[in-house]
Amino acid sequence: MKTIIANWKMNVGTRGSVALARGILLGIRGKTNLPEIVICPSTVTFSEMRKVVAKSKVMLGAQNVFWQQQGAFTGEISVKMLAEHGVSHVIIGHSERRGLLGETDEMINKKVKTIVANDLKPIICVGEGIEDREAGKAREMVTYQVGAALEGLSLRTQSEIYFAYEPVWALSTSRGHEQENTADAKIMHELIRSVAMEHIKISKSKLHILYGGSVDSQNAYSFLREDSIDGVLVGGASLKLSQFLEIILAAADIIEGKQK
Ligand code: PGA
Repeated sequence: MKTIIANWKMNVGTRGSVALARGILLGIRGKTNLPEIVICPSTVTFSEMRKVVAKSKVMLGAQNVFWQQQGAFTGEISVKMLAEHGVSHVIIGHSERRGLLGETDEMINKKVKTIVANDLKPIICVGEGIEDREAGKAREMVTYQVGAALEGLSLRTQSEIYFAYEPVWALSTSRGHEQENTADAKIMHELIRSVAMEHIKISKSKLHILYGGSVDSQNAYSFLREDSIDGVLVGGASLKLSQFLEIILAAADIIEGKQK
């Protein structure tokens, strides 16, 4: 299975999100061998977006959540509130939240535990910064982040865990388009899978390792065709309908090819 996730960040409000989602639904109509598609718009759009994607193959994801169930936590949103809107996936630990908002590995771990305990699916973002990479510490950094996110996590039978390997230096940059990324991403994906399997007992089909970092319609195929890359998390290019549809169709081609 391949998974394509759109992270719309703080870019589109309800009207824009509904229009994009309708475009996606129209673009995939009648297509077979589709990948899993998860769109993560702003939380304020959910009550409308829920109606748009109802009965479709497109799932809704959130860009963040708080780890407590309820209470005096001004400005925060609980897992139950997300579930009420039909949200199935939650992005956690995005580098923008780690870097700009001081989200720590400990906070990420608490969020992962709450998400899993409530039968939603975490998409845990990990990835080294440029200093770590240049100092040859990328593997060490990512190993630490994966272990910290999964520390003490109890899985339920139906739990599914997603990781997005998003090297911070490759996000929304031309450097993210460099060819060498694919080979490098493969190595990092294999590392994430093996570190995760040391911490949790989960079947291969329930642990998904995706790639993120300037993925677009030009380079998506080269990532998606790798067996160790279970899908892509797309930021900028997911806001452009035609590009995002091309990425979905690239995944569909690969799925179809594997079924032949
Ligand atoms: P990008 O963003 O595709 O624009 O690099 C991905 C992300 O930040 O999740």
